[in-house]
Amino acid sequence: MEKSEHQNWRSRKVAIVGAGAVGATFAYAMAQNGSADEICLIDLNEELCKGQVLDLSHGLPFYPTINIYAGSEKDYADADVIVITAGAAQKKGETRLDLLKKNSVIIEGIVDQITAQNSQAVIVVVTNPVDILTKIALERSGWDRSRVIGSGTVLDSSRFKYLLSEFFDVYVGSIHAYVLGEHGDSEFAAWSMANISGVQLDEYSRQLGIKDWDHEKEKIEHEVRNSAYHIIDYKGATNFGVGLALVQIVSAILKNQRRVLTVSYHLEGEYGIENISLATPCLITQHGVESIVGTELTDDEQNKLFRSAEVLTSEYDSLKA
Ligand code: LAC
Repeated sequence: MEKSEHQNWRSRKVAIVGAGAVGATFAYAMAQNGSADEICLIDLNEELCKGQVLDLSHGLPFYPTINIYAGSEKDYADADVIVITAGAAQKKGETRLDLLKKNSVIIEGIVDQITAQNSQAVIVVVTNPVDILTKIALERSGWDRSRVIGSGTVLDSSRFKYLLSEFFDVYVGSIHAYVLGEHGDSEFAAWSMANISGVQLDEYSRQLGIKDWDHEKEKIEHEVRNSAYHIIDYKGATNFGVGLALVQIVSAILKNQRRVLTVSYHLEGEYGIENISLATPCLITQHGVESIVGTELTDDEQNKLFRSAEVLTSEYDSLKA
């Protein structure tokens, strides 16, 4: 008998490791996005996990069809995407790199559990410092680099677009702009790639007669780079922006969108950089990163990308020393 249509149907499952503010906010946003059929929350704190799942489940009538439940490491076996948010979060006065030592141990333990389940998932690391922890997760897993990626600067690129939208008073969907490199203090705005509906920003600002555009660019880039610090000063942690950025990444994987996002990806010679994970424009498919979208950076931007690679490599080497 011919397999009926529905027998080819496969539930799209996202496992979220860490039921704290970021994990729960991502779950909440993902449930409303409609691209997942199952969301499984996993946390060592079982009480927290149960509470988050119960609270999220009370919204079931309002989401597209979704099944939300608390799970365990066994759920890694059939997950399509595993999003790792577990670990210590940045506190006031801390940089993301300050979290490396304690969070690297947590990430390695989680990856061991994932590989023990013979998972075929794409891993998306969120825990900071996300770029180095993406590299550590990749090495620990022994998987192909396409399947172990990080949230990178998808959130930072979103912050960049928001600030440009505010500055130019233009709908954010008409703005294309990317932040590249470290998700951290050495990240930079790739101004040469930024445009409003195809019009380069230097030209657009000239058309508008913007005074001292170079100074305005510096202010915007500084604000992007320091956004998390400001939010942490105000409310203690960030969660909404990163939760929504994760929805873009995970739905691109689940829907095989072939979408370009600045996720953290392990470079092996691209952009002249070897053996470190950081954010460049990547083509996202159901299998993770298919390729890097190589763009012609200016010399200044290329040097900033090299700088990010140096900072991250040095931190990684210090950890491993
Ligand atoms: C931030 C965290 C996710 O930038 O690093 O908000």
